[in-house]
Amino acid sequence: MALRLVMASDHGGFALKEDLKKALESADVLITDLGVPNESSVDYPDLAHALCETILDGNADLGLLVCGTGIGMSMAANRHPGIRAALCTDPYMSRMAREHNDANILCLGGRVIGPSLALDIAREFLDGSYEGGRHTRRIDKIDLR
Ligand code: RB5
Repeated sequence: MALRLVMASDHGGFALKEDLKKALESADVLITDLGVPNESSVDYPDLAHALCETILDGNADLGLLVCGTGIGMSMAANRHPGIRAALCTDPYMSRMAREHNDANILCLGGRVIGPSLALDIAREFLDGSYEGGRHTRRIDKIDLR
């Protein structure tokens, strides 16, 4: 069954979101794009919260959020219990985010990394799978309620 990936960005992440959407869409990856549709200025928390709801409602398996730095998106997303959003700047981080942290959202900075590196980071994230075991005890301690 295809992996259901939901993507969203603000204006600062729009260009990278579009690049990644084209590169990642395949028979194995079914993409839902929540916007934005252009570079008009918006508020990144609106997009982050909508994407988190999509995952928490069971309508996507993993999420990809892009803003200028990735920082604001990760801050907003991580306010949701059950969401583990990882801001990554290299492929090792994104692989570990899946394998050790069971991250369900990857955050990227469209003004920080180029499309080629971003694609490597995203591919590691999508290919990685949670290892379970000792990591579950640690993940269970992340949410405070
Ligand atoms: C928008 O200018 C910028 O602040 C936003 O994309 C993001 O970088 C926030 O963390």
